[in-house]
Amino acid sequence: MADAAGAPTIVAKGIEHPLLPGKPARLLAYEMEFQGRSLLNPLLRVRSGASLRIKFWNGLNETSIIHWHGLKVDSNNDGHPHYAVPGGATYDYRFTVANRAGTYWYHPHPHRLTGKQVYHGLAGFFIVEDDEELALQQVLDLRLGETDIPLVLQDRRFDEAGGLVYAPTADERFHGHYGSEVLVNWTPRPYFDATARIYRFRVLNGSNARIYRLAFRHEERLVDYHVIGTDGGLLDRPHAVTEAFLAPGERMDVLLDLSGGARGDAITLVSLPFDAMHMEMAGSHAAHGQHGAHGHHDDRSDGLEIELLRIRVQQKTPYDRTIPETLSRIEPAPESPFSPRLILLDQSRMAWRINRASYDMTATPIVVRRDTVEAWDIRNFQPSMPHPIHIHGFQFRVLSRAGSPEQQRLLAVTDTGLAATDLGWKDTVLTWPGETVRIVTDFSHPFLGDQVYMVHCHNLEHEDGGMMLNLKVAA
Ligand code: C2O
Ligand code: CU
Ligand code: CU
Repeated sequence: MADAAGAPTIVAKGIEHPLLPGKPARLLAYEMEFQGRSLLNPLLRVRSGASLRIKFWNGLNETSIIHWHGLKVDSNNDGHPHYAVPGGATYDYRFTVANRAGTYWYHPHPHRLTGKQVYHGLAGFFIVEDDEELALQQVLDLRLGETDIPLVLQDRRFDEAGGLVYAPTADERFHGHYGSEVLVNWTPRPYFDATARIYRFRVLNGSNARIYRLAFRHEERLVDYHVIGTDGGLLDRPHAVTEAFLAPGERMDVLLDLSGGARGDAITLVSLPFDAMHMEMAGSHAAHGQHGAHGHHDDRSDGLEIELLRIRVQQKTPYDRTIPETLSRIEPAPESPFSPRLILLDQSRMAWRINRASYDMTATPIVVRRDTVEAWDIRNFQPSMPHPIHIHGFQFRVLSRAGSPEQQRLLAVTDTGLAATDLGWKDTVLTWPGETVRIVTDFSHPFLGDQVYMVHCHNLEHEDGGMMLNLKVAA
């Protein structure tokens, strides 16, 4: 989408589409007319600095609103649940894309319905480009959709007719809703025919609750790949890794160099097994009888090994590009003059909380002053489970991880415990049980008056269950 002159309309509506071959399922999708064609969950591609007008038309029979995940917009344009509109109504967005180049996304955000609506299909990419980004595309000869490939990972559960099932039990509302099949761009068991060259994958974890430990495997070996960007765009330079965690809401931009590959090579993007650390029950004597999925693993459990995408090298053509040494001029992390604010994650009677509170639409338990820099210590209690914590309206930096489990500690590339995927600008950060993750955010913005955003867990069942607080940036 170029700089829209008129206001394109995005309609959230029910559609029929076979996710499993030959089995049409009732889904939800965002539909947009573009040059006489109707696009579903359109990838929006905009230039940094562009002014956008977008009309949202809620064609569902329940409330909804679009949230632009990662974008620095004012509260009127953020898609805060307070602005959710009923079925049949519209909402007009008008904002300037202030973000640097990066892989952002959009999804619904009505209170208590986010998990259900995302699960049924509502989500799309929002890709921002700027000069640095275009330079990288040039250097590596990348073309979006061909050699620069957005991948959204979403696990789903199907009934016999191939329809989606989303009816979380009390237990699933507490742990999160896991599916037995992982779809990549709505496709089960996908494969991809490649040539022997460098590819870029922009991976979005669009799952409700599942965390992935991403690696590329060739035969029995793991292949190195390069993390070049995170939630808020390019890193200063590529970081070679063999694996990385990606939690719901997070994005990871990577390069995979297949230029040394031979025809017939098969590389698989997998999620390696890991300890899901669902330890929320250990040491707690909360009474609940239906704790089925815990203690034994079925194919829905988090942390299982999963094959996500098969890449087959089909062609060998001359290719002489190499991974550049530098990518971007990234600013240093802002510095806060204050001691860190504590953000405590815990639970009480099967409800996850932030600073011992559950979501209340009208309360603003966190107030920060505009134009100040704050460090936050996000402390996940022990026993607990992993929580990916997300802030609306700003990008932050991760400064340190303390108390990390070994599987996270082993990925550290800094002496403060950060993994390559913690570098650069972030809007969502995974916190494991027992961990304290320090982040720093500059709450400067160009808007008039108080702005109300939010902080929440991006496990969508946790979010819908109230693991979410309003965050006021007071003018
Ligand atoms: Cu992607 Cu408030 O979330
Ligand atoms: Cu968001
Ligand atoms: Cu959570």
